[in-house]
Amino acid sequence: MTGPEISARVPAFAGAGNLVYREPEVPRFVSGEGCWLTAADGRRYLDAEAANGTVAWGYDAELLREALARCEQLPALPSFCESELRLKVLSRLERLVSGALGTPGRVELDLGGAQAMETALRIAFAANGPGTVVVFEGAFHGRSGVTSMLSSSPRYRELLAAWGLEVVRLPSPDCRRCPHSPASGSCTTGCREAVARWGSELTGVGGNGFRRKVSAFVFESVQNVGGMVEPEHELLRSAVDHAREQGAVVIADEIFTGMHRVGPRWGFQRAGITPDVVVTSKGLTNGGAALSMVWSREPLGSPDQYRPGSHSSTYIGIPSALAVVDTVLDRWEQWTTVDKDILQLEESMRERLTAVAERHPALVREVDAMGGTARIVLGGPHAGRLRHLFRSAHPKAGVLVATTGMAPDVINVHPPLVIRESELDVFAEVFDTALNGLT
Ligand SMILES: Cc1ncc(COP(=O)(O)O)c(C=O)c1O
Repeated sequence: MTGPEISARVPAFAGAGNLVYREPEVPRFVSGEGCWLTAADGRRYLDAEAANGTVAWGYDAELLREALARCEQLPALPSFCESELRLKVLSRLERLVSGALGTPGRVELDLGGAQAMETALRIAFAANGPGTVVVFEGAFHGRSGVTSMLSSSPRYRELLAAWGLEVVRLPSPDCRRCPHSPASGSCTTGCREAVARWGSELTGVGGNGFRRKVSAFVFESVQNVGGMVEPEHELLRSAVDHAREQGAVVIADEIFTGMHRVGPRWGFQRAGITPDVVVTSKGLTNGGAALSMVWSREPLGSPDQYRPGSHSSTYIGIPSALAVVDTVLDRWEQWTTVDKDILQLEESMRERLTAVAERHPALVREVDAMGGTARIVLGGPHAGRLRHLFRSAHPKAGVLVATTGMAPDVINVHPPLVIRESELDVFAEVFDTALNGLT
C-alpha cells in the first residue's frame, strides 16, 4: 500500500509539501506520543529519525505543559531585558560544557543551529580576525548564507551564500569515500598527515606567520548529513592539534551529536578532544522551541574581546524557549543511567539491523550503530527509494528514517533515545519488508 490510503495528496498551493524531501504524497500528522506519530488517516509511524534528531525524549505533551507553566507569568521579554529564568538557563548550559571540559566559559544563545554556527564564527573571528575556515569534506553546518559555505553540498550555496568566505576542505573522513582507503581500508599515517599540512607556502593555506590565515577549524565528531560518519579518532586529533598549533579556534559542531546522541554527553568526548567553542541545540529543546547555544572558553566570549551587540535577534531567548530548555535539562539531570542505557540502545540496534541485513546480503553492504544512531549502507544509491518504502511498504505501520544527498547509499537512523525494545522489533520488521520491496 503506497497510495492515497496512507497519505494525503499534497495540494499545490501555499508551499504545501515544501519539505526537505519533496514527495507527491506525504502523511499529515495530527498527533505524537512517545516514539509514534499518527497521521490524519489514522496510520501510525514510528519516528526513527526523532524529528531531525531533536526529540530525544519522544513526543511528550507533559514536557510542553510543564514548560509553559514555568513561563506563563513572565512578560514576553525582548532580547535586551534580563530575567531570572534566562540567567538560570545560561548558567545551567555553561556548566554542561565547562564541567565536561574542566574550564570556564560563556554562553551565547541563538535561534537555530545555522545561526549559532555563525555566532561561533564571529567569536573566532573576534579573536583571530576574519580569516579562512577549515572543515572536512562531507561537513554539514547549516544552510544559511554563511553556513552554506561550510556545508559540503554545492546545492545549498547555489542561490545565496557568503562567497567572500574562504573555506578549505580537508579530505573526507569517511574511508568509503576517501581516495586513499581502498588499499588500506582504514586511515593511514598519510591520511593523518593530509589533515595536518595546511599553514605552509606549499599548501597555499596560511597559518601562524601569515597575515591571511586560518581563523577557525570546524568539525562534527560524527558527520550526520555526511552519512553518519565518525572520523577516526587519531585522524580527528591530528586535525585538531594542528589547527591549534596554527592558532585557529577549534569549533565543535555538536548540534546533532550533543546530549548523548552518539553516547557520551558530547560527541567530542569520544575522541578525547577539547574544543574552544561548542555549538549545540537539538538535544536541549526536544524539538519544542527554536533555541541554540554557543559555549566559548574564556576569554573568547568576554565583552572586551567579543563586543556586545555583535549579534542579536528579537526572538533569541524568549521565555517560552528558555522554559522548554529548563524543563528538558531537568529531564536530563534525572536520567542518571543515561550512559549505560545508550550503550544498551546501541547494542540493541546493532543486533536488529545485523539480523535483517544478513537476510539481504545483495542489498545491504554494511550496518552499524553508535550511541543512539545507526546507519544502513546499501549496495547502491537507493536510500531515497528505501526511505519511501520504510514509510509505506508495511501494511500495519510506517517508519520514518533520514537520507541525505551527500550520502545517497546511506539510511540514517536516530530514534528518540527512549525507544523501547518492542519498538526496535517493529523497526526491524518494517526494515525487512521495505528491503523486500526494493528488489
Ligand atoms: C551538524 C549540524 N550542524 C548544523 C545544523 C543546522 O541546524 P539548523 O537546521 O537548526 O539550522 C544541523 C541540522 O541538522 C546539523 O545536524
